[in-house]
Amino acid sequence: MFERPAANDERQAFYARIDTHHLAPLWEVLGNLVPRVPATPCVPALWRYGTVRDFLMESGRLISAREAERRVLVLENPGLRGASSITHTLYAGLQLILPGEVAPSHRHTQSALRFVVEGEGAYTAVDGERVTMHPGDFIITPSWTFHDHGNPGSDPVVWLDGLDIPMVAFFDAGFAERYPEEVQPVAKAEGDALARYGAALLPLDYEAQSLTTPVFSYPYARSREALEALRRDAPWHPCHGLKLQYANPATGGYPMPTIAAFLQLLPAQFDGQPYRSTDGTVYCVVEGHGRSQVGDVAFEWGPRDVFVVPSWCRVAHHASEDAVLFSFSDRPVQKAIGLWREQAPAG
Ligand SMILES: [Fe+2]
Repeated sequence: MFERPAANDERQAFYARIDTHHLAPLWEVLGNLVPRVPATPCVPALWRYGTVRDFLMESGRLISAREAERRVLVLENPGLRGASSITHTLYAGLQLILPGEVAPSHRHTQSALRFVVEGEGAYTAVDGERVTMHPGDFIITPSWTFHDHGNPGSDPVVWLDGLDIPMVAFFDAGFAERYPEEVQPVAKAEGDALARYGAALLPLDYEAQSLTTPVFSYPYARSREALEALRRDAPWHPCHGLKLQYANPATGGYPMPTIAAFLQLLPAQFDGQPYRSTDGTVYCVVEGHGRSQVGDVAFEWGPRDVFVVPSWCRVAHHASEDAVLFSFSDRPVQKAIGLWREQAPAG
């Protein structure tokens, strides 16, 4: 939209002279700074679970969870290699915890979500309460809360980590510290937070202590049941099928200040219309097989595969059988600052 003016010798000489004073001509870069539409270096990408799992298990023989602090293979967007980012604002990785292992307790200002992909019996502890992790569970470790993970079970457990690491780095607002012990003491019974805040009830004197949901675990069994109950009557969205967003039950708002998360059901033979929005979105397939057209690329997917849709890139989902997709994005931040836009087919 903003054409770059021709650079003649006189101009080039001027640019070279001002460069030593840490000055640069705006007109040389204006088109890049103020694009007509979002111009992200992020590209569509898919990680097939079978491939990543083999490498993850190999990493399990190379390094312990204790030594690694967190044994994670980072899903790096091919357009952002070396930046530990799956979109400009979000980090994603697949984490493995083997039977008998502990991932030590720490806290940081980055908010995190866990979406359990494989295995039963591991736990995440947040501020003195442990929750047992089952495939499909959506679990949050809020900003600046101590959290640790352990696997007292007999199977390897793998989950998808989603964090706002790049966003916090952008603001230069990252802090972190270790808990004095490897495992934080258990101070509450399992299910405390869900009973207190997640049963459409609230404590009499409830006042929000943070911008993050007081329910830090959303069991898949409940979420899946909601989708199933709604499929009978809900009109199917032409792009999304039946899509719900995870909510902070105390406010109705997003579960975290920086990350929104969604769960959607696509019925067998669903043939979705293209959709785009400004929040680059990470998808994890929970159930079923299908195909998503993401810009110019078609991804065939099955359970546990992960793929990313960059900002303002069109996506159309197709399901060959009943399918469930989990997804997350930076939508709360974009909405808070008035930037978020979406485009679905008219009518
Ligand atoms: Fe952490």
